[in-house]
Amino acid sequence: MKIAVAGKGGAGKTTFCATYARLLARTGRQVVAIDGDTNPNLHAAIGIGPGATLPPFLPASLVARRFDGPRLTETIDEVLTNYALATPDGVHLLRMGVPRHADEGCMCSAHATVSALLAELDRDTEHLEADHTETITVLDLEASPEHLSRGTARHADVLVLMAEPYFRSLEAVRLQAALAAETVIDRIVVVANKVRTADDGAAITQFCERHGLELVGSLPWSDAVLDADAATSSLLDHAPDDPVVEAVGEIMERLMVRAEPVKASMDAGVQG
Ligand SMILES: Nc1ncnc2c1ncn2[C@@H]1O[C@H](COP(=O)(O)OP(=O)(O)OP(=O)(O)O)[C@@H](O)[C@H]1O
Ligand SMILES: [Mg+2]
Repeated sequence: MKIAVAGKGGAGKTTFCATYARLLARTGRQVVAIDGDTNPNLHAAIGIGPGATLPPFLPASLVARRFDGPRLTETIDEVLTNYALATPDGVHLLRMGVPRHADEGCMCSAHATVSALLAELDRDTEHLEADHTETITVLDLEASPEHLSRGTARHADVLVLMAEPYFRSLEAVRLQAALAAETVIDRIVVVANKVRTADDGAAITQFCERHGLELVGSLPWSDAVLDADAATSSLLDHAPDDPVVEAVGEIMERLMVRAEPVKASMDAGVQG
């Protein structure tokens, strides 16, 4: 099962992915977390401290264009051996390529690498599946909706859209949900984040109802999330009993249930 996480800048995608991936791994599932942001920081949120050796970025040479579409040039087993870092709780962290130089051009090949990887992750996970447990992949996307135009997450089973309770964040969710509805991704869900008041919660609930989106859970505002960042720690290590951790755990169980496909039924436009 593959879960991609998108939303406006700063909505909490990386915090959610890191916590979610580690909680999943604690249940005994095999978990691969992919940092799909060209400004990578999933490792820090997962709990890889400053000064630690990070895994190499996924190289563009990992994908070859074939007549039948892009394919990986290495097996998943090799990819995990060559590019993954084992992180706390056993999550296998992979990192998408980043710009190396100014003016070097677009990041198409980095996005294509993640897309091809996602396509093949379920096919060949011998490296991880000693006990044949299903592998769960968690993909932390960047804020720009470019991943939707590039099809970076087209092989995901679920797209999670992180929503903060303010208009511009919800507009970003609306646009990305509409674009995602044009893809083959089966299930598009919303997670509310940074909810401080009942009104905040109600605003996101009403937004989802208005646009036919499944609201799968809600994370409260928590100073502990900021404190963990400031301490260059993960939320799970810094404040394991925080309500945000608890809420991510509840969402985890809901996402693991294979619900009937729910798709947003709206047009990709800029007006709400
Ligand atoms: N529930 C929360 N309560 C308080 N602060 C939060 C919460 N969730 C995230 N934050 C804070 O919001 C900021 C952005 O979080 P995060 O990096 O997870 O977002 P993002 O969507 O991945 O951002 P980007 O678009 O830059 O990738 C961070 O400072 C983080 O500590
Ligand atoms: Mg992020």
